[in-house]
Amino acid sequence: MTFGAVEVRRTRSKTALARHHERALRGELGRVAKPIAWDDFDRSRYPEPALALAEDLFTKLAVGEYSAVGLFAQITSGLALTGAPLDIVAASTRVGSDEIRHAEYCLRMAELCAGKPVAVTIDHDALAASVPEATSLANVDFLVFKYAAIGETLAAALLTECRRRATDPVVKALYGSLVADEVHHARLGWYYAAHRAPLVTWPERHALADRVAEFVMLLEEEFWLGRDAPASARGAAKALGVLDSETQRRVISEVVEGEILGALDEIGLGTSLAWRARRRPEHA
Ligand SMILES: [Fe+2]
Ligand SMILES: [Fe+2]
Repeated sequence: MTFGAVEVRRTRSKTALARHHERALRGELGRVAKPIAWDDFDRSRYPEPALALAEDLFTKLAVGEYSAVGLFAQITSGLALTGAPLDIVAASTRVGSDEIRHAEYCLRMAELCAGKPVAVTIDHDALAASVPEATSLANVDFLVFKYAAIGETLAAALLTECRRRATDPVVKALYGSLVADEVHHARLGWYYAAHRAPLVTWPERHALADRVAEFVMLLEEEFWLGRDAPASARGAAKALGVLDSETQRRVISEVVEGEILGALDEIGLGTSLAWRARRRPEHA
């Protein structure tokens, strides 16, 4: 650990999160998740290939959501240890409880699609190898930019498209519930970015921009393949909100070009060049 002593005062960031925090302190933010009518899901309405794709989607989502619990615990710890304003630390503490609820929801939906209990395996070693520890301010900055600002913005965009396509009421309610939280997680990331932008030195900014650019360059490739249903199950897969490859690629390029690059530019972390030089999948 490289932190030493951290002075903690009742500080606020100069962002809208401060107002949100005051409302939370006054007990005005009881964000209660709306119940989902799980029992209304009827798997017999869908062909097996569509159910298999939805099961795969919800299983992968469950892994991501469950991994996010530990990740945000680490981010919260880093924010607290580096003396981030209290509104930012408070918002970060709430992310973990959202993510474990999301993991629970996604597992439940995967089980409903499978028609039987489902288990997922989390590879903690792989996770630890790809996630730097929140033991320096530079790493905390990178973690929040990568996983909260960019990662949660991508998640919100993809899940919004899933919700838009889905016509099954249970699945649609589930996507809606996830999106409502991911939007808050993304905002935390961008508010932190706005808070840090005037404070980082030029060398720090360059180092951070390089790390963020490296990640941005791989985004298109990472999300290149969606879940393509055979023609006979295409309508059913869509009703379950499953994204085909073409739609997934469109959502990613729209959110990167329409939201993420501009937001990064605004805080002096230009990554437009990195995006233009992005790694294209071989079959693109
Ligand atoms: Fe989540
Ligand atoms: Fe999230």
